[in-house]
Amino acid sequence: MTNAASDALVFFGATGDLAYKQIFPALQGLVRDEGFNLPIVGVAKAGWNLEQLKARAKDSLEKHGGIDQAAFEKLLNLLCYVDGDYNDANTFTQLRQQLGKAQRPLHYLAIPPSLFGTVAANLAKGGCAANARVVVEKPFGRDLASAQELSRILHEFFPEENIFRIDHYLGKEPVQNILYTRFANPNFEPLFNRDHVRSIQITMAEGFGVEDRGKFYDEVGAMRDVVQNHMLQVLASLTMDPPTGEDHDAVRDRKAELLKAVRPLAPDTVVRGQYEGYRSVPGVKPGSSVETFVAVRLYVDSWRWAGVPIYIRAGKMLPVTCTEATVEFKRPPQETFGEHVPLNSAHMRIRISPDVAIAVGVRVKIPGERRVGRDVELEMHRQAADDMPPYERLLGDAMRGNSELFSRQDLVEAQWRIVDPILGNVTPFYSYLPGTWGPEEAGQLIGNDGPWADPVVEKATKC
Ligand code: BG6
Repeated sequence: MTNAASDALVFFGATGDLAYKQIFPALQGLVRDEGFNLPIVGVAKAGWNLEQLKARAKDSLEKHGGIDQAAFEKLLNLLCYVDGDYNDANTFTQLRQQLGKAQRPLHYLAIPPSLFGTVAANLAKGGCAANARVVVEKPFGRDLASAQELSRILHEFFPEENIFRIDHYLGKEPVQNILYTRFANPNFEPLFNRDHVRSIQITMAEGFGVEDRGKFYDEVGAMRDVVQNHMLQVLASLTMDPPTGEDHDAVRDRKAELLKAVRPLAPDTVVRGQYEGYRSVPGVKPGSSVETFVAVRLYVDSWRWAGVPIYIRAGKMLPVTCTEATVEFKRPPQETFGEHVPLNSAHMRIRISPDVAIAVGVRVKIPGERRVGRDVELEMHRQAADDMPPYERLLGDAMRGNSELFSRQDLVEAQWRIVDPILGNVTPFYSYLPGTWGPEEAGQLIGNDGPWADPVVEKATKC
C-alpha cells in the first residue's frame, strides 16, 4: 500500500445508528470543508433503496448539525447504496460494481464486531480489499483476549498500517490541546511528575441516561464503554513523555509506553454504580448488574509518576454533562504565612467538554494588613461550537492515510490489560440516585486524596 489517499468511501451499517448520528454529518462536513468528491457507498441489509438512504441522510443531518444545502446536494450526488446480506457474495459483487474505477477504497465497518470477519473475508473475495483501508470503532473487543482475536481476523485481510481504530476522543480538539499545552509551554512540563503532583482526577460526567441504547449498553457498561478507551487516552495525554520526531507514530509510541506502565486494576481500586431506573430502560436485562458509573484509582509505575494516585470516574445520570481533568499540585512544604493553604489550592484544570478551558489554580493575597489569601483560577475559556467535529476530522485523516489520531493494536491491548482483571462482576455494584455524583463508596475510594473535584457547569452550556 502506498500513502496515496483512498479513492472511495464505503460504509457498512449505512442504515444504523452510528451512520445516522455521526457518519452522515461527517460526510457533509468533508464535502463542504474539504471538497470531498469521491464515490460514497452505503451498504446495509434493510430492504432499502437509494432514495430511502438519501431520506435517512436528510433526517440525520436535520437532527445532527443541520443541512448545508450546497454540500448536502453534492453529498446526495456522490451517494450510492448496496442492499444485501453480509454473508452473500453477491452483495460484494454489487459493491465492486458501485466502486467503478476506484482501486483504493476505505471501508468503514459501522457494524457489530461479530461481523468483522465475515465482511473482511467477503471484501477480499469480492476484489474490494486490495489496497483498501478499514476503519473500525471502539470498543475494540470485550477484553484482552477478544481484542487479540479481532485483530488476528482483520490482519488476515488487512495489514496493520491499513487498519484505523476510531476512538473519537482522539479527534476532539480539546483532547489534542492537552498535549499541545503541555509541550508548547516549557513552564508546565517540569511540574508534571511525582515531585510536584499530588494526584490527578479525570471526571466524565453525563447528565443523561442510557436512553435508546439499552441493548448495546447492557452488553458493555461504563468500564468498557468509556474508561478502557476515552478515559485512558485522556490519562495518557496528561501523563505521557514528550514525543520525539514527527511521524504518525511519534505520539502513539509515547502513549504506548505510558499505558504499558499503568498498573492493572485490582478489585479494591474500583467502585461500580448503577443508577436507579436503569433496569427499566428498554433492552436492559431485568436483573442487570452492568455498571452505569465507575470510579477507579490507578498508578503509573514509572519514575515520573511512581506513587501518584490517578482517579478516573465516569457515569451516566450525574448532575452535569462535563468532561474535565484536574492535576492537583502538592501543598507548600511549610506554612510560611501561618495560614493553612487548602489541599487543592494549586492545580491545573483542563475541561474537554461541553466548553473548553485550561485553568491554573493559584492562591493570591487578600488586600489588607493580614497575610491571608484566597484561591482563584486564571482561566482560558472558549466555546467549542466551531471546532471540527471529531468524526469529520478522523474520517478525513483515514482517507489520507494519516493514522496519528487513531488507536493502535498495542495501545488497545495495553488498555485492555489495565481493566481486564476487574471486568464482569468481580466487584459489587451500588445503586445511586439519578442526579447525584454516583454511590457514596466513590467518596470512600478517593478518601484523603479527595474530595472529588465536581465540575461546575454554567446553566447556558448544560446539556
Ligand atoms: C461514546 C459512548 O463512545 O462516547 C457513549 O459510547 C458516550 O456512551 C459518548 O455518551 C460520549 O462522547 P462525547 O463526545 O459526547 O463526550
